[in-house]
This record gives sequence, structure tokens and C-alpha cells, in this order.
Amino acid sequence: MTTAHTAFRNVVVAIDGPSGSGKSSTAKAIAIRANWKYLDTGALYRAATWLAIEKNLDSGNKIVEAIKESPIKFNCDPKNPLISVGDLDVSDAIRTLRITDQVSQYSQLPELRSYLLELQRKIISESTSGIVVEGRDIGTVVVPDANLKVFLFADLNVRTQRRGAESVEKVSAERISDSLQSRDILDSSRKISPLRPAEDALELDSTELTLNEVVDVIWDWLGKKNLLGLAKVAIIGRPNVGKSTLVNRFIGRREAIVEDTPGVTRDRVRYEAEWN
Ligand code: DC
Repeated sequence: MTTAHTAFRNVVVAIDGPSGSGKSSTAKAIAIRANWKYLDTGALYRAATWLAIEKNLDSGNKIVEAIKESPIKFNCDPKNPLISVGDLDVSDAIRTLRITDQVSQYSQLPELRSYLLELQRKIISESTSGIVVEGRDIGTVVVPDANLKVFLFADLNVRTQRRGAESVEKVSAERISDSLQSRDILDSSRKISPLRPAEDALELDSTELTLNEVVDVIWDWLGKKNLLGLAKVAIIGRPNVGKSTLVNRFIGRREAIVEDTPGVTRDRVRYEAEWN
């Protein structure tokens, strides 16, 4: 497995935690609000599991070979996060209980983890402005130097209700709760990259919070870490209509050169060139 330190130039927000803690909804909402990309790493493990079951493969190496033949692709648009294997859209197929019940077993295979680790880092490095990545080992292994690490959790009853509401099949609460508990055990006890908070992760209990409240808390953390960037304002207009004066008023000092004669400032004002 690759453990190399990976520095990304873009903003990376890591959201880890157990199933049903609210990671997906939160990560998507943050990405939409910030106009960033979104990566659901659990979907990659689910797609690999789907492929392994389809092709009846049980070894990590064979699954990796099958992925090379039918690549797993994730669309990082938080408003449309689809996943495909080869040419096939498996976005719904990977959410069935058949996959959910087996994904933690397959996720333990070292060769598969190592392959998907590289795939995750490649996807993250291709996002230009920022990306919110959710999973189990993002802050600890995939992006140990993420700009913000959040560990999201909630009590089992609430997680069961949330998963029940999202389920694409009709399943009893008891069945969902059992599935969550057995995955919790497997995900946190596996040898390679177990589910656990990174030492520098900010922990957030979402049990009694609404989605908006969770998003607001994280948004506040992003702001405090100066990760949201400055607003960009474009001031557009014909020459000499007062653009520079307006810029100076906004920023509270005389940065843009103001001149009554038309044309004088056109080629000289750095700010206007940037802002127009
Ligand atoms: O987030 P999810 O429930 O869709 O994840 C499905 C499984 O994938 C999860 O039980 C364990 C595995 N997984 C992982 O091992 N590492 C990750 N970064 C994400 C998910």
C-alpha cells in the first residue's frame, strides 16, 4: 500500500465516519455551497464489490484486473454524483442490500484498497478549486494533509432511521440496524486503514442536529480556517462611467486610478484589468 505523503494544491475537506452519520448529505451540501467537487469513496468500494459479485471474483488481484478492464468512474459533480463500471451506470445497483452486506468484506482486500487509494488520489488531484471527500480513511490515509478533517458520527438509532429513509429497497429497521452494526465492527477492526478519527480531526455528533445545522458548523470551521476564499466581484461598464471610483469605495482606499478625462486610466489600472 502506498503511504507516501500527498500534497494537493486544491482545498481538500475530508469527512470520515460510520454509515448513516450524515457524511454523504453533508459532503454534497458543502460542495454545492462552496462550488467545489465531491467524491464519495464508499461508492468506489461499492462499485468494486458489485463487479466482484457480477464476475464471481474473490481475490483482490482478480478484482483489480477486472476494474482495469471495466474502469470505475465517478462523476464529481455534487448535484449529479453518478458512478459507472465500464459503460454501465451502477449508481442504483450499488445501493442494494446485496452489495451493502458484502462491501466491508471486499474492502479489506489489500490489493483492492491499494488500487482504489491511487484512484482516489488521482480524482482528488484533478479537482482544480476544492473537493469534499467522504469515507472512512480519508483524513488518516488518503489525504493525511487535508485542509480540514471532520469525523462525523451519530447514535445507532438515528443512523438506522437515516439509512431506512435513503434505502432503495423496503427493509425493516432491525435488518438495517444489524447491517450497520456488523459493518461498524468490520470497518473499524480491519488491519488496513480502519475507520477511526484522525488525530487532528474535528469531531461532530450529528445525532441531534439537522442537516443544515451540521453544514453550518462545518461551514463555520471552513471560514475560521480561511478556506472559503474571497468573493470575486466583477465591475463591468463603458469607459469612464465610474468603475474605478466604485472599486475604491468598495475596498475603502484609493487603489484604482481615477481620472475625469476619458481613456486616461484604461491601460493603467491593474485592478480594473483583474476585475473586468
Ligand atoms: O460510505 P458507504 O457506506 O457507502 O461505504 C461502503 C463501504 O465501503 C464501507 O462499509 C467500508 C468501505 N469504505 C472503505 O473501506 N473506505 C472508504 N474510504 C470508504 C468506504
